[in-house]
Formats: sequence, structure tokens, C-alpha cells
Amino acid sequence: MARFSSPLFLLVVSVLAVAVAGAGSTFDVSNPIRLASDRLRDLESHVLNVVGNTRHALSFARFTNRYGKKYDTVEEMKLRFGIFKENLKLIKSTNKKGLNYTLAVNHFADWTWEEFNRHRLGAAQNCSATLKGNHKLTDVVLPETKDWRQDGIVSPVKDQGHCGSCWTFSTTGALEAAYKQAFGKDISLSEQQLVDCAGAFNNFGCHGGLPSQAFEYIKYNGGLETEEAYPYTGQNGICKFSSENVGIQVVDSVNITLGAEDELKQAVGLVRPVSVAFEVVSPFRFYKEGVFTSDTCGNTPMVS
Ligand SMILES: *[C@@H]1O[C@H](CO)[C@@H](O)[C@H](O)[C@H]1NC(C)=O
Ligand SMILES: *[C@@H]1O[C@H](CO)[C@@H](O)[C@H](O)[C@H]1NC(C)=O
Ligand SMILES: *[C@@H]1O[C@H](CO)[C@@H](O)[C@H](O)[C@H]1NC(C)=O
Repeated sequence: MARFSSPLFLLVVSVLAVAVAGAGSTFDVSNPIRLASDRLRDLESHVLNVVGNTRHALSFARFTNRYGKKYDTVEEMKLRFGIFKENLKLIKSTNKKGLNYTLAVNHFADWTWEEFNRHRLGAAQNCSATLKGNHKLTDVVLPETKDWRQDGIVSPVKDQGHCGSCWTFSTTGALEAAYKQAFGKDISLSEQQLVDCAGAFNNFGCHGGLPSQAFEYIKYNGGLETEEAYPYTGQNGICKFSSENVGIQVVDSVNITLGAEDELKQAVGLVRPVSVAFEVVSPFRFYKEGVFTSDTCGNTPMVS
């Protein structure tokens, strides 16, 4: 309800005023539930008035409600509707291909790929710092499939927001799983400490970094705090590490050689969830579930 930008707020008020006049004396202002649902309907009908009353327009109206989207002007709303339709086309045509993963509308559905790239992927960075790893391959027979969620050790998804800190979430996710596997207890660990404090290990806070370098930082720093003790702000900040709140320590980590899928497969199949960096291509914005695959594959150590 908060933070309407003023032009849309005015538009909404005028639509409401018409509705009040039309409903006459039966409109009960003292009934907040009625008011709230009427307003929701008015918002949807406002969207439909602007973008037309088609099937796609209805999906768009629902989308704006569901994700609390506010557009400053009618032009902006029309522009976003156009982008939404393109994205809907991508989602539907991909899902029709019978792949092992599905896509779905989410809060990014009114952004172009270019905007997503700029606001979520950030500056160019190295995809790996492990050109040569130290994982030892053995000839143990691997399971046909492995889903660590079935072992109950994969922690819930978090949201990195407007900060190129994916590497910190990859790091905490791997450590949270290792902790649960070792001690049978849930833990949530601090991404913000990595954003703020891991710079000496070639990491750049909201401008990128790498898990292998984050593990090194934690090892030499003497630990990583819990999420609760050092909460996420999604912005670069000053390091406030305090050893009293350490949730885990890293004794050692094993690097997988860049691109060595046999090593990766063995580590995932036999050891535990692994932290990886991979190239985010356009459809991944709408990933919902399943095993993602893509024909697009970069071959340089820097991605942008
Ligand atoms: C889906 O996964 C199965 C099992 O791994 C595989 O055999 C099949 O080729 C995959 N299908 C596609 C379209 O990638
Ligand atoms: C990429 O890797 C090179 C070589 O290790 C390093 O000098 C450079 O600082 C890295 N760049 C970034 C953005 O991490
Ligand atoms: C793993 O990779 C990191 C980052 O490049 C490096 O600092 C560390 O020494 C490597 N560890 C081993 C055991 O090779």
C-alpha cells in the first residue's frame, strides 16, 4: 500500500472516486475489507483501461497486483506491458519444448533481458579462480541421479536483491548444507560479512567475487557469522566482523578444475552440494524448477 509514486496515485484516486459515485449510498467506507478488494479490482481495471482488455492484458493486470508493481505514467505502463508480453512468449514457447525444466512468470517479467543484466548481473567478472583444482577422481560407481534436497540438507532460497553478491549466497548455501550434513542442525550464514569483509581475497562486494575465494577468506578469517548476527543489507558496507558470533569455521575446501564436469559430477554425487558459478542466459531469469540446460555457452574466463 505504501510508496505510490504520485502520478499513479492520482490516477487511482480518480478511478476510486468514480466507483464511489457509481455505487451511490451502498458503498460502505467503514468496511475496510470491502474497500481493499474494491481497490484491488480498481487497480486491475485501471491497468486494463490503459493496456486494453485482452487475455494478455488480464495476465498483466494480475501480475501488477501480485508483485505490487507501480508505474509512474500511462506510457511507462504500456512499455512494461509490451515487455511483459515478449517475456510471456519466451516462457510459453520454452515450456512447450518438453525440456527437463520449466519457466514461470516472476517479479522480473516486466524487465528486458538488458535491464536484468544491468541490475542483477553487474560488471564483468572472472567465472572461476580454479583453473587447476585439487579434487581427486576415483573410480567409484556414481548414483544415476542425486538430489540433495531429498536428504534435507539444502537450505531455503534467499534473495540477493540489487547487489552483485551471488557469490556470497553460493558460498553460504554450500556451507549451510555441509553444516546440516555434519551436525544435523539448520544454520543460516551471513552473506553480508562476505560482501563487507572478503575484499583482500579478490572479492568486490556487490561488484562480484567468487566462492573459492570466499572459502579462503573464511578459513583465514577464523569463521563466518550467522545471518542473524550479521544480517543482509544488499549494499557494500564497512566490515563489522566479531568473532563472538561465528556460526561456522572452514578448515579446508576442495577446488574443482574449471570446466571439469567429471570432477563436479563426482563431488555432487558422492560428497555434498557444491558451489558453482555458471553463465546466466536470458531464459534463466524465469527459471521455476527442474534441471536447467542451455545451448548458449560462453568460452572465456570473463563473463559480463
Ligand atoms: C531430460 O533428462 C533425462 C534424464 O537425465 C535425459 O535422458 C533427457 O535427454 C533430458 N531431456 C532433455 C530434453 O534434455
Ligand atoms: C580475474 O583474474 C585475474 C587473474 O587471477 C585477476 O588478476 C583479476 O583481478 C580478476 N578480476 C576480477 C574482476 O576478479
Ligand atoms: C582454491 O582456489 C582458491 C581461489 O583461487 C585458492 O586461493 C586456493 O589456494 C585453492 N585451494 C587449493 C587447495 O588449491
